[in-house]
Amino acid sequence: VLKKIKKSGELVVGTSADYPPLEFTASENGKTKYVGVDIELAKDIAQDLGVKLVIKNMSFDSLLVALETGKVDMVISAMTPTPERKQSVAFSKIYYKPSGEYFLVNKKDKDKYTSIQSLKGQA
Ligand code: ARG
Repeated sequence: VLKKIKKSGELVVGTSADYPPLEFTASENGKTKYVGVDIELAKDIAQDLGVKLVIKNMSFDSLLVALETGKVDMVISAMTPTPERKQSVAFSKIYYKPSGEYFLVNKKDKDKYTSIQSLKGQA
């Protein structure tokens, strides 16, 4: 694959740009572009390889098939390495680990709302 990438001068990356802040779209003078942490990572990889980055945006569910059928050279899409997925594709080392989900409350309420459960019936 690396040979093919270098020969074509393009790294084709599949992503599902619906997952901010990792991959999403932004419009800049009427043009849609792909942005996010993963997109930056893809840019860096393409730059290291000395090739142009081509992003193919698709539904998250299409990504693995696209990779397996060679429609894309790699996938960068906040994809968690699950045992099932590991059977068909090779994951890189983990570069981002979500450490949890947060909610924020006003400081004065901090003892009142200490967990998701404590929010029950408050809305
Ligand atoms: N980490 C989750 C998974 O692997 C969700 C990733 C969703 N990513 C996306 N670009 N929509 O299933």
